[in-house]
Amino acid sequence: MRDETIAIHGGYVPGSTRAVAVPIYQTVAHEFIDADHAAALFDLEVPGFHYNRLNNPTNDVLERRMTELEGGVGALTLSSGSAAVAASILNITDAGDNIVCAPQLYGATYTYFAAVLPRHGIEARFAPDDTAASMEPLVDEHTTAVFCEAIGNPAGNVVDLEAVAEMAHRHGVPLVVDNTVATPLLLKPIEHGADVVVHSMTKFVGGHGTTLGGIIIDSGRFPWADHAERFPMLTTPEPAFHGVVYTEQFGEQAYIVRCRTVGLRNTGAALAPFNAFLLLQGLETLAVRLERHQANARAIARYLADDPRVAWVQFADFPDHPSHELARRYLRGRSTSIITFGVVGGYDAGIRFFNAVRLFKRLVNMGDAKSLVNHPASATHRQLSPEALRLVGVTPEMIRLSIGIEHVDDLIEDLDQALDAACRPGDGPPRRQPV
Ligand SMILES: Cc1ncc(COP(=O)(O)O)c(C=O)c1O
Repeated sequence: MRDETIAIHGGYVPGSTRAVAVPIYQTVAHEFIDADHAAALFDLEVPGFHYNRLNNPTNDVLERRMTELEGGVGALTLSSGSAAVAASILNITDAGDNIVCAPQLYGATYTYFAAVLPRHGIEARFAPDDTAASMEPLVDEHTTAVFCEAIGNPAGNVVDLEAVAEMAHRHGVPLVVDNTVATPLLLKPIEHGADVVVHSMTKFVGGHGTTLGGIIIDSGRFPWADHAERFPMLTTPEPAFHGVVYTEQFGEQAYIVRCRTVGLRNTGAALAPFNAFLLLQGLETLAVRLERHQANARAIARYLADDPRVAWVQFADFPDHPSHELARRYLRGRSTSIITFGVVGGYDAGIRFFNAVRLFKRLVNMGDAKSLVNHPASATHRQLSPEALRLVGVTPEMIRLSIGIEHVDDLIEDLDQALDAACRPGDGPPRRQPV
């Protein structure tokens, strides 16, 4: 089936009730038939459900659907994208190990890697840019993952995944890709060599700004057993799960089964089944929403590029965008709905613009049906040092727009009046007006 069809039907076989919508299994546990059944479930010898910190039938449909869309062998839903990012690394990384990262990352991911992982003895090595050549010198025998966002948030850089995957694999290291901005409908990292894909489904997948959720998808292709010394968590007996050796018992699913049985089971960042249901609703309309997001974003990027009140616009459709060629190659003529631009007048003008919007929502999310605006330097990325800001690609005047699916003329009218306000420093901060 094609993506548009999988997004609606994938992973769901109606049960005896023949319910057309995926049912919400709002239950904590499932009853065992008898002791043998309980034992078989606990030992993962039979498929099924027993306690919903590990899995749930509603979540299971979402996991299967996203697995199909990304082209993997298995997936694990978690309570948020951040939980998914953390679990994807901790599943294979121990004190004394390191990960090598592209620098253009979502702010909280950057902070987690730069400031939290080191407290657990894990070093995050940030390359000066997102190219394989810059990352390669940082990889050593203790590197357990190369990590990047396929399209960086908010920098908008498109990573040459094939080159980075080839480099990582040459060193016996998996490539972990955050595919939140692109979604599997625009880009499938596994087709380009990624070994593990993570998502914040809070964004485009959910699509309506109602629900936090994350997912990890395993390509099943990384040969963990060939690099046994680097990945003892997958290749030696697991003390946290009755001594199982994941690569021996679960083969190509070794990584994702350990994520569930150790990562999720012991940290408890489970996705609520109602949230899985909402994310499934979002997924069903993702394809049509993306078309509208894209058409609106293209019109708005052109509008901003022609406006003298705007210092610069970064939109990968434009030939002067540093990632233009990579975007053409990896997105195959399609584009995202994330636009970054600079207001003439620097940081202060950026703040005035941010305060002046009426229809755009001032908040730190993206991928919503509603259009959203963020001023990263004063919001999402405000805790980063000037050096870190430069590294992740955030400038003081940068505005990030997540273009929604409203009528584009209404959006342009709002941008127009906010740019006016931004360019009138003498007027002081514009008063907020309810829409
Ligand atoms: C690229 C990316 N990854 C991960 C996250 C974290 O996701 P969540 O907010 O669902 O924890 C975000 C959130 O904005 C993001 O943009």
